[in-house]
Amino acid sequence: MDVDEQFLVREAMLARENSYSPYSGFRVGAALLAESGTVYRGCNIENAAYSPTNCAERTAFFKAVSEGEQKFRAIAVAGDTGDYLYPCGVCRQVMAEFCSLQDFVVICVKSEKEYRKLLLKDLLPGAFTKSDLQKI
Ligand code: THU
Repeated sequence: MDVDEQFLVREAMLARENSYSPYSGFRVGAALLAESGTVYRGCNIENAAYSPTNCAERTAFFKAVSEGEQKFRAIAVAGDTGDYLYPCGVCRQVMAEFCSLQDFVVICVKSEKEYRKLLLKDLLPGAFTKSDLQKI
């Protein structure tokens, strides 16, 4: 990883500051490292109709993809519960669309100094991906 993992953790915690979460009060920030070296921040963005809510991780991915990035190395995700924040299932699926299951690193942050690094394959075993669509 060119960018220091500690830097990515701090970026996720800073991204959390922009969380728009008036309904849940549950603030989340993410920092996504593209293969280009650029880091994209994302926060959760809620909605009065609830279902249009977008998670921090997907905000970061959609920002990056809309800027032309399609290859990624790692993402850090930080809540503010004082516990480790693991990505939801929908966000894991979005990661699987663009990232190597074997190589993509997910950093689940509890605090600046406490975080766990996991591989996407361990967060999404038996992933359904575009290769499955080619089997018909
Ligand atoms: N949330 C995220 O942003 N990322 C996750 O991985 C888990 C959940 C957000 C969505 C919603 O705004 C709030 O946390 C409560 O579910």
